[in-house]
Amino acid sequence: MAKPKRRYICSACGSVASRWQGQCADCAEWNTLVEDVPETKFAAQHDLSTGGRAIRFEALDAPTRPVQRRSTGLEEFDRALGGGIVPGSAILMGGEPGIGKSTLLLQAAAAVAKAGADAVYVSGEEATGQVRLRAGRLGLADAPLRLAAATSVRDILTTLAEGTPPALLVVDSIQTMHSDMIEGAPGTVSQVRASAFELIRYAKQNDVALVLVGHVTKDGNIAGPRVLEHMVDVVMSFEGERSHQYRILRALKNRFGAVDEIGVFAMEGHGLSQVSNPSMLFLSGREQPVAGSAVFPALEGTRPVLVEIQALIVRLQSGATPRRAVVGWDSGRLAMLLAVLESRCGLNFSTAEVYLNVAGGYRLSDPAADLAVAAALISALADKPLPLRSIWFGEVSLSGEIRPVSHASLRLKEAAKLGFDSGSGPADVGQGVAKLSYSGLSGLSGLVDRVMATA
Ligand code: TYD
Ligand code: MG
Repeated sequence: MAKPKRRYICSACGSVASRWQGQCADCAEWNTLVEDVPETKFAAQHDLSTGGRAIRFEALDAPTRPVQRRSTGLEEFDRALGGGIVPGSAILMGGEPGIGKSTLLLQAAAAVAKAGADAVYVSGEEATGQVRLRAGRLGLADAPLRLAAATSVRDILTTLAEGTPPALLVVDSIQTMHSDMIEGAPGTVSQVRASAFELIRYAKQNDVALVLVGHVTKDGNIAGPRVLEHMVDVVMSFEGERSHQYRILRALKNRFGAVDEIGVFAMEGHGLSQVSNPSMLFLSGREQPVAGSAVFPALEGTRPVLVEIQALIVRLQSGATPRRAVVGWDSGRLAMLLAVLESRCGLNFSTAEVYLNVAGGYRLSDPAADLAVAAALISALADKPLPLRSIWFGEVSLSGEIRPVSHASLRLKEAAKLGFDSGSGPADVGQGVAKLSYSGLSGLSGLVDRVMATA
């Protein structure tokens, strides 16, 4: 029999390599490649169809205990979770360092404690004195929260096993935790995974709601990396620009709810305050029309949010490769849109630098933003400001068509409510909106004509 080939699997991203390497060629993580035992070896030696215990099958409609959610005391947090925390669930809270994860979770844990439930906050990053100082600043010093500074998972679980399990356990952060079951420094993939596994097992067995804080790397992956995402029930991401005030809490995965609702917060001197009506937040205080600026009615879950998109085009004199820089949108999508504008509308961006920015530190993921980005680009290229009170939305296809998007009437209604008087988008949007003059566009060339026709 031919010798089975060795293969190596990256424990971070799952890609397969034929040779061992120090660094994974796909996700660039270090020391994550482990040898995988070839399947043929197993198949030859084992027959798994005997010797096991019988498992019990159940009907789909068998009676179940209804899920009792617990409020975090912050309506915006509850909304992003799909209605509150589910006991026994594990939540991963990801976000860049300094964005406000510890602040948000301290506020939530204090509110849970104040509501009469037992909440535990374990900090592996800050001393208890630091956390107390912060709590004082947030006006929460009187909350009956159990606070500890610890990094050993064994110490934490031994302590918790002695009393009744808490309702909420916050571990800040998973990258500082250490499990003595395996070797390695805190923060390595194997440590993060082992620590999370032990904590999640404790939470599931004792019906404790567990929140693990995870710092994300620059490219947006929760460090330690994807390994945690499939172990937890809910993956949340806390986003925003540190230099801006606004923060968005988003569920990237939720076994107990929808993933499209967001929570909006503002970071202020006394902690995070909730923003229950965010539709005007991401508009800069515009009074004069400026070239390159377009307003897009984004939809986050069930809430419309108006966002200003700004484009800047700089013509290059030399033959240097022009830069394309994007903040708040997908750079691949911008490249595609530029290519469509060049090939379908004959516009020329090839010798120009293109900068695109979404105002207020907002990150757009709604595909309907294409048309607003295109309008901003054309307006910047032609140096023609778009009408101040106009909105733009629609998905652009590679052929240059404007495709219909979801909830057009909701977007238009919100814009009309905020005083916008004209809208452009896909040709077919169902019933019109009375207070707003709407014009449907079938293709990008129609958009170019519209922008050029503005005074
Ligand atoms: P933090 O919660 O420590 O971030 P993370 O845990 O995600 O690393 O928050 C860090 C920033 O928030 C810090 O730079 C200062 C700011 N901040 C305020 O502006 N107001 C406040 O009341 C608090 C507590 C923090
Ligand atoms: Mg922190």
